[in-house]
Amino acid sequence: MKTKYLYINTIGCQMNVYDSDKIANSLLSLNYKATENLKKADLIIVNTCAIREKAEQKVFSFLGRLAGLKRKKPGLIIGVGGCVAQQEGKKILERVPYLDVVFGTHAIPRLPEIVERVELKKSRIVDIGMTDQIVEIESVADSLENGPKGRKVSDFVTIMQGCDNFCTYCVVPYVRGRETSRSPEKIVNEIEGLVNSGVREVTLLGQNVNSYGKKEGLCSFSELLALVNEIDGILRIRFTTSHPKDLSDDLIYAFKENEKLCRHIHLPVQSGSDRVLKRMNRKYTRALYLEKIDKLRNICPDISITSDFITGFPGETKADFKETLDLIKTVEYEGLFAFKYSDRPNAKATLFAQKIPDQEKKERLKKLLDLQEVISRKKNQALVGSTQEILVEGFSKKMSSVLPRAGETKINESLPNNIQWTGRTSANKIVNFNLESSSVSCGETFTGSIVNVEIEKAFSHSLWGKYLKLEPAPLKGEESYAA
Ligand code: 5AD
Ligand code: SF4
Repeated sequence: MKTKYLYINTIGCQMNVYDSDKIANSLLSLNYKATENLKKADLIIVNTCAIREKAEQKVFSFLGRLAGLKRKKPGLIIGVGGCVAQQEGKKILERVPYLDVVFGTHAIPRLPEIVERVELKKSRIVDIGMTDQIVEIESVADSLENGPKGRKVSDFVTIMQGCDNFCTYCVVPYVRGRETSRSPEKIVNEIEGLVNSGVREVTLLGQNVNSYGKKEGLCSFSELLALVNEIDGILRIRFTTSHPKDLSDDLIYAFKENEKLCRHIHLPVQSGSDRVLKRMNRKYTRALYLEKIDKLRNICPDISITSDFITGFPGETKADFKETLDLIKTVEYEGLFAFKYSDRPNAKATLFAQKIPDQEKKERLKKLLDLQEVISRKKNQALVGSTQEILVEGFSKKMSSVLPRAGETKINESLPNNIQWTGRTSANKIVNFNLESSSVSCGETFTGSIVNVEIEKAFSHSLWGKYLKLEPAPLKGEESYAA
């Protein structure tokens, strides 16, 4: 069978990155090899995000760029998947006349069949059917031809899909459907497969991991963490996202009990004002949130806490916003993501009165980010002089243009004397560091291992350090790691 090429443009969250891997994997059966070269592609898929207006605009501007390509290459198949596809269905076919396929968030397992039908009959297909079952696709293989990442050190594993919370600003329950969890066996199997392909860190994904398994009567999320902690070869575990209302004591204690669980929690709060939280349907108060933060820090003093915020939610007054700034000062997050509120189809807040003017939303966003910048710098500065354990992910961005990819090609004598590497601390801070090329003969042995780095410089979004030869004590499971 002739090899065909697949180009995927992933827009949005980690869940979409994971889904794109699944898409690439499912299309291997039709002989589609992934490519990074848009012009070479026989099939282009845009995996879309509808969470905020801006992400949706990005989808249509990318699709606009494809019109010329399709004219030059009429056999080219173009598909749109993910949340915008789910939300808009066949309206996208009307808006984009050269589009062949629209497939929703639950249609990935049916994609090979859909693409085959388009190849044979040249028909246009819309599949946005939803089920409350998760249909499993066999193991995720890295099918990227000449991908930028080389061997992956860190990968995502979806443990649940959908959401039942209906925060009033949010489109997710409408485009991802009801909350459904995968079985622990399937999750563990998938992670074991990833370990065999070189992955050393997994991030468990779900809209609200704290309610994992509750509906189906599976194990709890903290029990799942304990199972993953036992997997040989995995060095680090992360998860996202945790809804503050469901953050249980069990999960807080999991940071103490599972040595591979990274000292980081992303705990989106959205606003510091009780009045706004109520209108957002978040189901916790500022006081309850702060109580949970205190508990986390008592049990795990070195935990890094990050969050999400929305500025200019309908009806947010200047006083409400001041409470948000005040909360940020109180918690002193390690980092945060903040977004201007945008109306989303079906989300309740779209119908709320008292919309905030765009200029005001922007100004509040800037104030918030400026405040966090100062806090992030201060927190990073405090790490200067400390020794951090870094999971090495490969060459730093700066080096990737001059070096062969980590994990693929041996480093040879023609390389610069100092090679810049990158990795993360347990607290999820990016650390770049130099290493003389003579110290490491092969990128493969270094990438995916945990090394000690002494932090020398702090920036607001990353750290710079010096590699220390001294190896840290092996973590559970590290003994069996063979690079
Ligand atoms: N407008 C702005 N931000 C939003 N988010 C979700 N929906 C909206 C919206 N309508 C943000 C929230 C959420 C993050 C993933 O995106 O902060 O935690
Ligand atoms: Fe959206 Fe709220 Fe569900 Fe998060 S918990 S996905 S913000 S509805």
